[in-house]
Amino acid sequence: MILVLNGPNLNLLGTREPEVYGTFTLEDLENQVEAWAAELGTAVTLRQSNYEGQLIEWIQQAAAEGFGGIVLNPAALTHYSYALFDAVQAQPLPVVEVHISNIHAREEFRRRSVTAPAAAGVIAGLGALGYKYALSYLVEKIR
Ligand code: DQA
Repeated sequence: MILVLNGPNLNLLGTREPEVYGTFTLEDLENQVEAWAAELGTAVTLRQSNYEGQLIEWIQQAAAEGFGGIVLNPAALTHYSYALFDAVQAQPLPVVEVHISNIHAREEFRRRSVTAPAAAGVIAGLGALGYKYALSYLVEKIR
């Protein structure tokens, strides 16, 4: 069982800068991720929050909740949340950080991820497909 977490403003997918993030909504993304998970023979739980503390609590509780890995798109928190870094670092599960857009091809402040050093790896710029590849990695890793 894999936990998929989306951070601040990702509830606005579909209308938020479609030239950067595409026209799919969060619901479209979540349906697609569920379909990919089923293809991979795993189950996913999908959560989104605009609140740093909520994301931290979900990460802290993930292992005890029985998840085997986490796909995390920390959104803008990526670039400044040492609290989120600490939460990922403090827990035992493999975490794959995903970004829909290529954070290295955008504004300077997006090039640095403070959360990435705590992750197993990072996928950026592949759109929604990044979630598929992250799931695929975690399924192999957890098996
Ligand atoms: C994002 C990239 C971040 O820089 C941005 O703040 C987001 C989304 C992405 O998925 O491309 O909200 O994480």
